[in-house]
Amino acid sequence: MKISNQIIGTGSTSTVYVAEIENQNYAIKIYKNNYSLKLINKEIALLKQVNHPNIIKIIDSNVERKYIITELLNDMDLFDIIAQDQKPLNINSIKHFSQKLASVVQYLHSNSVAHRDIKLENILIDEDLNLKLCDFGFAEIMDTNFVQKCQGTLEYLAPEIQKIGLISANELANTDVFSLGVCIFILAFAHPPYKVNTKSCPYWNLLYSGQWQTYWQIIDRRNKYDQSFYSLMQGMLEFNPQNRLKIEEVLHHPFLIGDWKEEFETDIRVRLKIK
Ligand SMILES: Nc1ncnc2c1ncn2[C@@H]1O[C@H](COP(=O)(O)OP(=O)(O)O)[C@@H](O)[C@H]1O
Ligand SMILES: [Mg+2]
Repeated sequence: MKISNQIIGTGSTSTVYVAEIENQNYAIKIYKNNYSLKLINKEIALLKQVNHPNIIKIIDSNVERKYIITELLNDMDLFDIIAQDQKPLNINSIKHFSQKLASVVQYLHSNSVAHRDIKLENILIDEDLNLKLCDFGFAEIMDTNFVQKCQGTLEYLAPEIQKIGLISANELANTDVFSLGVCIFILAFAHPPYKVNTKSCPYWNLLYSGQWQTYWQIIDRRNKYDQSFYSLMQGMLEFNPQNRLKIEEVLHHPFLIGDWKEEFETDIRVRLKIK
């Protein structure tokens, strides 16, 4: 195996490089030195357990040497793509993204897996422009055990897990829906739904108190989106987890109906400057 010294990605737990094995290129995720072997083992076990066209495929791993090898994807993740132009994706691209990600999350939840770190940085595309969810470092089996709240990335964290404490793993499905809602929101506006997650933030306050009409007036002055988009966002970014949409409801939501792959591909090709 030959590892190039060019970094193709960094995250909170690792650095990712290109690795060449028998003339074929892969990605190698090398964990930080002090990263726990137990957590590496857990991520590997979960990656081996899942099998879905929109989930990254694991090829090989070495726990003692703290790496995993996966299929090589584009080094621009969805966050990089949005950050580069600071411009929302086209509406039909957002529909395609929502369909694919809702289908992955539904697959995970129906297999009792919560991802716990759904964010644009962890969503990549392959050379055929298929979306791939990666980074199962925080993923958890949903059972009756209690797990720590506050796991994941603050900007995407559901309100019910923002305070230190324990939550039943069964309830993590609701938190993934919130995080996916934040992803879809960022693709539509090129900024997050609120600036900070405290009452000092007027956006946060409006969501907290469910004042959606006022919220959309402030956020979306040009009123670009149709009613089905707003209703999807309101259902996913609902602060009360009991009233939040379940992933099956997201998957069957009117906003997602249709086939938008071509529009998505065209949009992404332009942004990545590929033919
Ligand atoms: N297979 C891959 N191909 C291309 N880039 C990747 C691949 N896996 C990860 N990356 C990039 O590396 C970054 C960090 O990887 P990730 O698995 O999210 O690790 P961390 O747990 O440290 O966040 C990702 O955000 C992505 O940009
Ligand atoms: Mg990551």
